[in-house]
Amino acid sequence: MNPSTIYPQLKIHCEDINKTFIQKGHIEVPVIRNVNLDVEENEFLVVLGPGQCGKSTLLRIIAGLETPDTGYVSMDGLLVTGPGPDRGLVFQGYTLFAWKTLIANVELGLKLRGVPKQERHSVASYYIRLVGLEGFENHYPHQLSGGMKQRVGIARAYANSPGIMLLDEPFGQLDAQTRMFMQHKTVRIWEHEKRTIIFVTNNIDEALFLADRIILMEGKLPGRIKNEYIVALLRPREHESPDLLKLRAAITDATELVL
Ligand SMILES: Nc1ncnc2c1ncn2[C@@H]1O[C@H](COP(=O)(O)OP(=O)(O)OP(=O)(O)O)[C@@H](O)[C@H]1O
Ligand SMILES: [Mg+2]
Repeated sequence: MNPSTIYPQLKIHCEDINKTFIQKGHIEVPVIRNVNLDVEENEFLVVLGPGQCGKSTLLRIIAGLETPDTGYVSMDGLLVTGPGPDRGLVFQGYTLFAWKTLIANVELGLKLRGVPKQERHSVASYYIRLVGLEGFENHYPHQLSGGMKQRVGIARAYANSPGIMLLDEPFGQLDAQTRMFMQHKTVRIWEHEKRTIIFVTNNIDEALFLADRIILMEGKLPGRIKNEYIVALLRPREHESPDLLKLRAAITDATELVL
């Protein structure tokens, strides 16, 4: 590989990624096909697509949890060869340690890095407040609702101060009201901290509310990028604003063509 193609000015560069899984020992399932994708520093990128179109696989490849069959991913000009603390991950479902309190879960990454107790406590408290969970610091996961657990996962990822956040349908299991609350919070945190985000969702309104740019995936496997939309609208956005509705109609049209 020519080192000059690992664009150091880009946060993430995906070069011609293909991935085929073998299922049941012999069936080849092509899941990602010819994905080329650049993500700028501080960009809020949303990957939008229906169920089972390869979104999580693409995110896992960017995270370094899966190896592509062809192509490569680079971050800040360095080849991604595995997972690392520079990528904060929030995946579908909850992955908290049941025997640790909420704040201990959030502090864990900092503790592993040897951050002093006082400092990690104040960083963790800051993010716990940002996701609206102050007062629950000493609760254990089984004492929290599903939505609360998901928010702990988000606080934990932010607390590690990664260069990029990779969020895979993080609000998929939240009730509508909490989901809206978290969308607002996410925008506020992003505006405040200006960190690169790749956010996967199957929800068009969520994509339009959050994104600087939306990557629309094909509706079926193998996962390909079908279209790209720039959302050059001020935040916080109104779901009913004419500009947003126009964009929504364009994306819906493109989506329906593949159904
Ligand atoms: N490790 C694996 N081994 C075999 N097949 C896999 C593996 N991971 C994913 N797949 C297959 O790849 C396809 C795409 O899965 P993926 O999880 O990337 O889709 P998705 O768009 O994230 O779906 P959802 O919206 O349901 O989360 C599925 O058919 C799945 O069965
Ligand atoms: Mg998925």
